[in-house]
Amino acid sequence: MPNTFYVTTPIYYVNARPHIGTTYTTVVADVLARRHRSLGVDTFFLTGTDEHGQKIARSAEKAGCTPQEFTDRVSAQFRALWDRMGLTYDDFIRTTEPRHKQAVQKLFALLRERGYIYKGSYTGQYCVSDEAYVDVPPGAPCPDCGRPTETVNEENYYFKLSAFERVLLEFYDAHPGFIRPETRRNEVLSFVRAGLKDLSISRTSFSWGIPVPGDEKHVIYVWMDALANYITALGWGSADPSRYDKFWPANIHLVGKEITRFHCVYWPAFLMAAGLPLPQSVIAHGWLLFEENKMSKSRGNIVRAETILDAFGALKPDLPPSEQDRFGADVLRYFLLREVVFGQDGSFSFDALVQRYNADLANGYGNLVSRTLSMIGRYFDGVVPYPASSGSVVQAHTFAVEVPRTLAAFAASIDALDFSRALEAAWALVAAVDGYLTANAPWKQVEGTTDEQQQALRADILYTAAEAIRITTALVYPVIPYSAAQVWAQLGLGDITQADLSNLQWRGLQPGTKLGELSPLFPRADKEIIARMNEFEQKNNPAPSDPAPSQPATPAPPQSAAAAGSPTEQQQPRISKLHSLVDGLAVAMAESTTETSAVLGLEKTIADTVRETIGSGRPPAPSSFASNESTSVKGHPTLPPAPATGTAAVASGAAQPSAASPAPAHPEGKISIDDFLKVELRVAQIKVAERVPKADKLLRLEVDLGTETRQILAGIAESYAPESLIGRKVVIVANLASRKLRGLESNGMIVAATAADGKAILAGFLEDVEPGAKLK
Ligand code: MSP
Repeated sequence: MPNTFYVTTPIYYVNARPHIGTTYTTVVADVLARRHRSLGVDTFFLTGTDEHGQKIARSAEKAGCTPQEFTDRVSAQFRALWDRMGLTYDDFIRTTEPRHKQAVQKLFALLRERGYIYKGSYTGQYCVSDEAYVDVPPGAPCPDCGRPTETVNEENYYFKLSAFERVLLEFYDAHPGFIRPETRRNEVLSFVRAGLKDLSISRTSFSWGIPVPGDEKHVIYVWMDALANYITALGWGSADPSRYDKFWPANIHLVGKEITRFHCVYWPAFLMAAGLPLPQSVIAHGWLLFEENKMSKSRGNIVRAETILDAFGALKPDLPPSEQDRFGADVLRYFLLREVVFGQDGSFSFDALVQRYNADLANGYGNLVSRTLSMIGRYFDGVVPYPASSGSVVQAHTFAVEVPRTLAAFAASIDALDFSRALEAAWALVAAVDGYLTANAPWKQVEGTTDEQQQALRADILYTAAEAIRITTALVYPVIPYSAAQVWAQLGLGDITQADLSNLQWRGLQPGTKLGELSPLFPRADKEIIARMNEFEQKNNPAPSDPAPSQPATPAPPQSAAAAGSPTEQQQPRISKLHSLVDGLAVAMAESTTETSAVLGLEKTIADTVRETIGSGRPPAPSSFASNESTSVKGHPTLPPAPATGTAAVASGAAQPSAASPAPAHPEGKISIDDFLKVELRVAQIKVAERVPKADKLLRLEVDLGTETRQILAGIAESYAPESLIGRKVVIVANLASRKLRGLESNGMIVAATAADGKAILAGFLEDVEPGAKLK
């Protein structure tokens, strides 16, 4: 293990208060930091807030205060929550701090000096929500988040990103672990291989940012400003770079999957240009979903960590409030790490939280600790007994073998960031010890044994159980630090933060250790706690008042609903319904196996719901939603089967003209050869095929095009089992603009016919043909 460890979270935008999505990343970073510290590694854990940019300035304006007042307030809310939860960050950087600003200006000046920045002018569509230029025509929405874009004409500074295309690809090649997981790596590779354009890195259209040194009417691009936090917080560019010298390069940048490009393309390019070392890894996790959608402020489907702290803290009324919070934080931490498979999207629900808590913490670990320690209290006066090693105890010997295996499996899974598997291994040990106690029943007098023999047996059994608890507790300490510390103290081992957990050996528990004071660890939660959390949620969760951060997977909700400010209580369920419908529409439009009328039907339903939501006094819904009054689908987001026999179709998530805005038809209904030649059809071989969670019709495919691997989302899940597709050669439309579906990027379409029963039939070849071959 290296002797330093530097882990970072993204710095969060201050236009929304923290919710359990942002809490998730910060908790994962805290778990990693605690684990490394507990193994004796010199650790630095950085988090903070991203406070510049037009989006923040507009939020401040809406809130009726200056941007600085606004960011001070929201940044403090993040920090206060992390403190309430006992998160052990070593530094909290704010991009409005002087230490950051001056170092960002130094970075800019350095890149300019080294010839990587030049001045040019640009007119393009700008997405304020994503703080990025996007490649769409005027009036078109942002392809990533679906929100309206603005036409911006600016004289800007440019970063020569194009100069880094080859070096970046070489770097990824030489460092296969730089981007994880593999899916994200493939996305980044395709993005870079498709060609890098120079990046505009200054803005003149607003002033809430860090001025370009020497040209102060420009402010530095918010992503350059933000990414630099990872080194400015360490003192790079300051009078005291000692922390930078010690901890840079970072071991892990933890990020949500939607911001991998910024971290894996722009950030390494900036660092290369500055001649600085690159981070060791960027780890992208999935999203927490609530009610099937990404949790986000604009959707109104946010759950606050405070709700869980309040509700579970109340299970321990005798504790001081700060300890109640730490206990509640453990419950949330355990759930997030155990329930969500790291890297994938995971659903959050209060029901699942309470179930996990009761099953794993109250009935599992908590119950095991309390029954073992109370028996040591009863039979051995609260002193850990000497194991007599009589050899007659059922399974006693197996723990000597099993525990080192658990230790190894746990460590391997944590190192692979597979937290749920690591916890599974720890809880398998809990279950084994529980079974061991039950099988040996130390509370029973075995027939024919003397009291002395019985006591020796008990000593064996209870020592074994207590020792297994000690080991489990040491393992799970990074995940449930407050509760593990309680158990450690109850075992008589003192302060866990002072313990050396780096070398856990079976039989390390000293017989003769006097137990600490025993108290209940995880009181059972009854069903009412769910209702209480819903209540807290409503109290803690004021209605949305400004735009949320990007929503990569889904088109924006209709303008009228999104811009309405605070929805009323009556509007809220309809807005949620709208979100589902819009998601359904995005999928329908991407799945050409879906009938056009079904798409129109969905659009009509959306139009109706918009009208219902905004009330009768408002103007009608946008015309693209109101077309085709005669369609039959009513208020149902799922898609009916595809109809027409023998229609050629393209089964994919890539962009195609929507039925609501058809592409202009050729007068004779024909196209010219030139039109046809615009479409690049190629042979591709399917290498990976898997279902997309919560999307019945979609498969995620990785296809080999001879020279590259692409990810394509195809609406063929009802026609083909994923495993049947591996190795199959198909035809794809290779030159379609990429688009996102369900948060996944799709780079191309697979060509298929639609059979009479609506099933897709993939186009293929009788003869063998190489992947990449072009169709003419
Ligand atoms: N400010 C940028 C990051 C700059 S880093 C140099 C930003 N901020 S954000 O407030 O939008 O935070 C995004 C991050 O918050 C995600 O990448 C992820 O780490 C976390 N999450 C926000 N919502 C989330 C979920 N619903 N689920 C899981 N993580 C979530 O992007």
